[in-house]
Amino acid sequence: NRKRTVLGIETSCDDTGAAIVDSEGHILGEALHSQTSTHNLTGGIVPNVAKELHAKNVEMVVEQALDDAQMRLQDVDALAVTVKPGLIMSLRVGLRHAQKLCQSSGLPLIPIHHMEAHALTARMIDKIEFPFLVLLASGGHCLLAVAKGIDDFELLGSSLDTAPGEAFDKTARELNLFQLPRFEGLSGGVAVERLAREGNPHAYPRIHVMTSVANCNFSFTGLKISARRQILREYQRQGLATHELLPQAADICAWFQFNLLYHIARRLQRAFIFAEMHEICGDKKTLVVSGGVASNSYIRGKLSGLCETYGYRLVCPPAKLCTDNGIMIAWNGMEKLLNGRDFSQDPDGVDVQAR
Ligand code: KG4
Ligand code: ZN
Repeated sequence: NRKRTVLGIETSCDDTGAAIVDSEGHILGEALHSQTSTHNLTGGIVPNVAKELHAKNVEMVVEQALDDAQMRLQDVDALAVTVKPGLIMSLRVGLRHAQKLCQSSGLPLIPIHHMEAHALTARMIDKIEFPFLVLLASGGHCLLAVAKGIDDFELLGSSLDTAPGEAFDKTARELNLFQLPRFEGLSGGVAVERLAREGNPHAYPRIHVMTSVANCNFSFTGLKISARRQILREYQRQGLATHELLPQAADICAWFQFNLLYHIARRLQRAFIFAEMHEICGDKKTLVVSGGVASNSYIRGKLSGLCETYGYRLVCPPAKLCTDNGIMIAWNGMEKLLNGRDFSQDPDGVDVQAR
């Protein structure tokens, strides 16, 4: 049984990633180009700018990953590429490049669902059997699902509005955190998490989110707006211009992060009860938490306590596998390959999808 290898390419949002993994879950080579510092300057992701940066970097990133693995394109068994969901123009850059590589090499193309790839990354590093619960919290999404098989997911709930990462990013920008050299080039989430360590999570009144709604859906717009209001109020109170730095920034970060965590934890509690009632996870209860926001160690720590209370084993991939990368795409392609999915279709017939 020879070892198989898959090259994965990711361009759905603001990271250009490529990686090669083998059938045993080893990362043979990887490369990533992040656009975060550019988007921090423009105050958010501008689709056209994202597309241009992907187009400029995708070829180099793929070459770097192959170099890192000391492999040539002909050495891999298949090419996996994200085709949904994401920014249409960005997805297209990755797909076009993958199609070009397939044409020149004759390799099969494996179309990948970005969220499914996030959900299954944990299986690359840990033995996790289906079914398991999964919470994905990133800059574009928030969802709770039951993973039943490599392409079989039951959605329990998702965000009705903003994604949690977006709320983190917005709050960081409104606090002017990127002006501080210590936060330069970092994501809003990381900046807020670091500053929150110096603040008081109970400095301001609790923010109540969807407390009377009995399902597993999320909402982060209320949190985002509450944070914004609190920030403006403090600017007024301090008599500062809104481009200056607030002395209360750490308190606001801690308070915002606490309230966001609280909302996620309440929804998760519902999912645990739902799973119990429908006997979904049997006695090997596992929760996988992934996505950029899941790399937040404060959030991880608190969710770990909640899991303990409900008898769940918590699996969080390491931070670099939680945020967008080529590895998760390559691994998802590998799982499909190992499970005999059919990839004989013409690579040029594959298309992208926004949602
Ligand atoms: O999964 P990801 O890399 O990209 C997608 O959105 O698909 O997630 C990026 C998001 C950003 O909004 C970023 O601010 C957030 O994840 N993030 C964090 C942390 N690290 C990244 N949010 C909270 N705490 C963190 N430590
Ligand atoms: Zn993602």
